[in-house]
Amino acid sequence: MSSDTMALRVAELMKAYDKQPYTTEFDGFQLKIGKGVFPTDVSFATLKLGHILGNYHPEYAIDMGCGCGYLALVMRRNGVPKVYAADRHPPAIECVLENIRNNPEVGPIEVCQSDLFQEIEKEVVFDLMVFNHFYRPGGTGIFGENDDGGKDVFQRFLSEAKHRLNAGGVILTSFVKMSDPENDPQAIAIQEGFNLRTLLTEENYMNMGDLFIYEISLGA
Ligand SMILES: C[S@@+](CC[C@H](N)C(=O)[O-])C[C@H]1O[C@@H](n2cnc3c(N)ncnc32)[C@H](O)[C@@H]1O
Repeated sequence: MSSDTMALRVAELMKAYDKQPYTTEFDGFQLKIGKGVFPTDVSFATLKLGHILGNYHPEYAIDMGCGCGYLALVMRRNGVPKVYAADRHPPAIECVLENIRNNPEVGPIEVCQSDLFQEIEKEVVFDLMVFNHFYRPGGTGIFGENDDGGKDVFQRFLSEAKHRLNAGGVILTSFVKMSDPENDPQAIAIQEGFNLRTLLTEENYMNMGDLFIYEISLGA
């Protein structure tokens, strides 16, 4: 990614940070975006993931790195019986709890402050995981600790996910090629022995780089 493109993206995120906290109407939800919570409304991939989630009918699902919790809310709205929302960033946990209270029609969501699966009961396994991760290490660092962003966190996520995915279960994730290729979940998933399907590609999305949505699964 060129330094100009990166500077534009950082400026967009800082603009969102400056107006936080705010509430926005987003895909039919009243969403609060708390101070220091990743601004879902300027995310590249969150809304696209939200729409794709409608194609899946899991019993147990998790929104990993939930931020304000939009993807968890979508899964409940889609009728998924048991939905977890996990994030390690305390402002995100406060924010998702508030969004669940403000959208009472979606019903209960299990919220967990957790570094990946660490604080989630060992016996809980999932049919669907969605992880809209940070695409690179570093970045602004204001929407959650991000020194391990990109490759490191995604590799760790997949090695834990192996023990938390039901047979036939899938992981949905995204990537924008503004980040270095080593951070692309495609390469990481294949190295870790997963199967991968590209569900969506948009070339040079918002002039930032090619956008991908992936479905990752374990072989039979
Ligand atoms: C790009 S934001 C996505 C937020 C939200 N899911 C969305 O799509 O708008 C990434 C989120 O992952 C969380 N996160 C990063 N590393 C994590 C980890 N190891 N365990 C749990 N959450 C993590 C961050 O705190 C942040 O809220």
